[in-house]
Amino acid sequence: MVSSRIIPVPPFDYVVFGATGDLTKRKLIPALFHRFMDGQFDENSRIIGVSRSEMTDAEFQKLASDAVKTHLGAKPVDAAELKRFASCFSYIANDVTDKTGWKELSASLRDDDEVVRAFYLAVAPSLFEPICEYLAQKNYWRPDARVVLEKPLGHDLESSQKINDAVGRVFSEDQVYRIDHYLGKETVQNLLALRFANTLFEPIWNSAHIDHVQITVAESIGSGDRGYYDKAGALRDMVQNHILQLLCLVAMEPPASDEANALRDEKLKVLRALKPITGPDVATHTVRGQYAGVQSETTKVPSYAEELGHDTDTETFVAIKSEIENWRWKGVPFYLRTGKRLARRMSEIVIQFRPIPHSIFEHAQGSPRPNQLVIRLQPNEGVKLFLMIKDPGPGGMRLRAVPLNLSFAETFEERMPEAYERLLLDVIRGNQTLFMRRDELEAAWRWVDPIREAWDAAHDRPQSYTAGTWGPTSAIALIERDGRTWHEDNDDPEAP
Ligand code: BG6
Repeated sequence: MVSSRIIPVPPFDYVVFGATGDLTKRKLIPALFHRFMDGQFDENSRIIGVSRSEMTDAEFQKLASDAVKTHLGAKPVDAAELKRFASCFSYIANDVTDKTGWKELSASLRDDDEVVRAFYLAVAPSLFEPICEYLAQKNYWRPDARVVLEKPLGHDLESSQKINDAVGRVFSEDQVYRIDHYLGKETVQNLLALRFANTLFEPIWNSAHIDHVQITVAESIGSGDRGYYDKAGALRDMVQNHILQLLCLVAMEPPASDEANALRDEKLKVLRALKPITGPDVATHTVRGQYAGVQSETTKVPSYAEELGHDTDTETFVAIKSEIENWRWKGVPFYLRTGKRLARRMSEIVIQFRPIPHSIFEHAQGSPRPNQLVIRLQPNEGVKLFLMIKDPGPGGMRLRAVPLNLSFAETFEERMPEAYERLLLDVIRGNQTLFMRRDELEAAWRWVDPIREAWDAAHDRPQSYTAGTWGPTSAIALIERDGRTWHEDNDDPEAP
């Protein structure tokens, strides 16, 4: 059923390079299915898969239907609707480094200005350049055509510049949509609403009132034998993009509007104000770890090296104490951490306010604890504001920190859309707000590269941590040295 809040998008030709890959099956097709079921587009739109393997349209349509069924799991799928959805899919076998399949692709694109044309590059970045060179030809290129780029967009500043130069020779910046799927998450967008649609927080959103910020993106799964991950490591895979984007949304000045460049200008200023971590600061401000396996009678979890099948120095965990050198944030540390095989899957942002200046509760049980605003990105999405209250009942003044708890699941009945649902259709709408601009991406690399280089130069191995814990002990020491602790929400139903 089409809800009044669903605004249909214009018809489109979405060409997906890397059409048989994991991302297409796990994320893109299920996301498109949800948008189709909500009536946001219909059979007048087309998804044209391009990949090397030989496949007919019917086989590709089956791949799409299977991807939906696998993704929806036990949830019932209406067979007729699924058939209608699958009819939007067609397929072209094309080795993009070879010239043969291109003709067929150009013939399949509709020459109609009303039909939005988008090219989604879900392929290795080494293929971006040859693909873009072809797309420069008149059969493909239009001033309003869009190109969507998936990470990894390089492994350092230089390689990312090369990729951006190659794409930029064909597409102007307002045609380029660089995906950071964290920006498509509902709770991440909610950060904007929380900060800029309320008056409550903005006056105290600064170093005068905030003691520090923590950003944690923890995963309980391992990284498996992904070859890409072994080349990237957690710093490139998670910090350079997702975590720095979260940091920007927390720290940026209020933009003048929600227009894409207004927002991206403010994020860029934060990235440029990040204090470089170089030389001896790398050892004191960063921790990198790698998970070791667990062997007991009841549990057997392989180490990262065992999963990979060989020894490696790649980090699966990073913790960083970062600082933003500007008027608003001077002296407020932003502690960042991310890792695989941690105690549980949990992503959150914690804003810890300063302690009260003076306590009048000399004889109370329990001392006033600083307020905390905890923004839970996943799972159990929501916002908690920890306040001090008096424990009810007799027994004198007993102080306790209790959260005002806004749970999204309890407050809203609807399904929480996946990040790609929003992002895929924002491309069609021509809205770049939730996509990274080139200068942002490069500013992020500029900050991350010296950390990586210092690690490489030091030749020391990542510290080992046991799978299922919160990372190496030195990550705990990183924050405890400053008299602070990582937030652990014992009210969390998933807390061990
Ligand atoms: C990807 C990383 O960008 O994000 C993966 O490459 C990681 O290593 C994933 O697992 C995490 O995304 P999410 O949405 O599951 O938090």
